Amino acid sequence: MSCLEVVGGNSLYGEGTIQGSKNAILPMMAAALLTKEEVLLSNCPNISDVICMIDIMKDIGVQVVKQEHNLLIHAKDILNVTIKEEYGKRMRASVILASILLAREHKVKFPYPGGCTIGARPIDLHIQALEKMNVQFQEEEKFIVGNTLGFCGADIYFSFPSVGATQQAILAGVLAKGTTRIYNAAREPEVWTLCDMLNKMGARILGAGTKCLCIEGVECLHGIEYQVPCDRIVAQTYLCAAAGCGGEITLHTDCVMQMKMVMNMLQEMGVEIKSNPNMVCCKRKGQLKNIPKVKTAVYPGFPTDMQSIFLALLSIGEGTGVVEEEIFESRYACVPELKKMGADIRIVEQCAIVKGKRKLCGADVEAKDLRGGAALILAGLEAEGITRIKGGEYILRGYESLESELGQFGAKIRWM
Ligand code: EPZ
Repeated sequence: MSCLEVVGGNSLYGEGTIQGSKNAILPMMAAALLTKEEVLLSNCPNISDVICMIDIMKDIGVQVVKQEHNLLIHAKDILNVTIKEEYGKRMRASVILASILLAREHKVKFPYPGGCTIGARPIDLHIQALEKMNVQFQEEEKFIVGNTLGFCGADIYFSFPSVGATQQAILAGVLAKGTTRIYNAAREPEVWTLCDMLNKMGARILGAGTKCLCIEGVECLHGIEYQVPCDRIVAQTYLCAAAGCGGEITLHTDCVMQMKMVMNMLQEMGVEIKSNPNMVCCKRKGQLKNIPKVKTAVYPGFPTDMQSIFLALLSIGEGTGVVEEEIFESRYACVPELKKMGADIRIVEQCAIVKGKRKLCGADVEAKDLRGGAALILAGLEAEGITRIKGGEYILRGYESLESELGQFGAKIRWM
């Protein structure tokens, strides 16, 4: 288990840029397998979830070359339709390849993606959508096997605007026979990016970014060069770090419009925020004031991926704040760890009630998931003394060299 050491008490100053988006590139890598031509993705982040997806793609016979922040993918042939259990365990998002293998090879065998610390993570909406598009599934021990004679367009009604299930249905629809309409689709920016990339590859998708998508199936898609957008969650993590530690940082990023909800909440907490479409400056003046209620929601609401990180911020704000997690059923794994640092947090059903303290104290803690690990780093930066965080490998899943990225602003973080 890799361990991080964080020295608290320093304010953050400086300017920086933002890595490519984890939650955008994973479905984009899947989309690249829908053509036999070369696809070049630039601004690819150096994170372990991308490495895992590359391992899976090589395992099924795809040529992948990663050079720095460029990823060249060439799916001339698919040699294997089984996604190994070890990969499904490492990364739940690998389920997105089901539609790809069904579209290319009319068959797929993948491990049931288990739950994780943030919830059961079912895939019923994925299965329902693909079954409506002419796929038959059966269970084979710990695997799910899908077969089709070819995707047929269908009207898909999602009971919940699932990001992954929406992306799964889009990837199934672009080469299907006929038209696919998706109602109650997810509107996250990563869904819009996937539609934009596919349309530039020759797909015919209308309504990108809205709750209703219409996809007219085409014969084939061509290769493309596409730049991965900035990671909006990473950018908001850095803003919250500066808000928690004090100081002033400026981020040069094109995802400012996607961060308005969190930026507004920081302003309500007394943080000075200035921005234009390609830059955001965050300056902490004086004591943070806790806002009474934060409720996570689908985009453009307050992102669930920022919930744990906001807990670390509310832990040192003046007054009481209540966080209500509406998307995942158990995304509070970092709370016992924050309490080891002196945070006053009580969980009541889906709510976390946070009574802000003047200071947290450094402690030995353990990350249990990606965003919870980021929250512990922020708490360590805010705290007095040294915090040692076990489970650092969770953080590597989504943050590219967080220690040097935050280090450029004056944060003292090192791998032990
Ligand atoms: C994506 O996960 C992101 N991951 C998550 O980011 C993010 O938290 C989530 O969307 C919500 O924004 C990637 O993009 C790789 P969902 P996804 O399907 O697609 C339930 C991070 O930290 N659900 O929108 O899995 C599900 O249980 C990660 O970067 C079903 O019930 O999210 C959850 O309660 C964490 N049945 C809710 O929907 C299904 O078939 C939202 O899940 C699918 C989902």
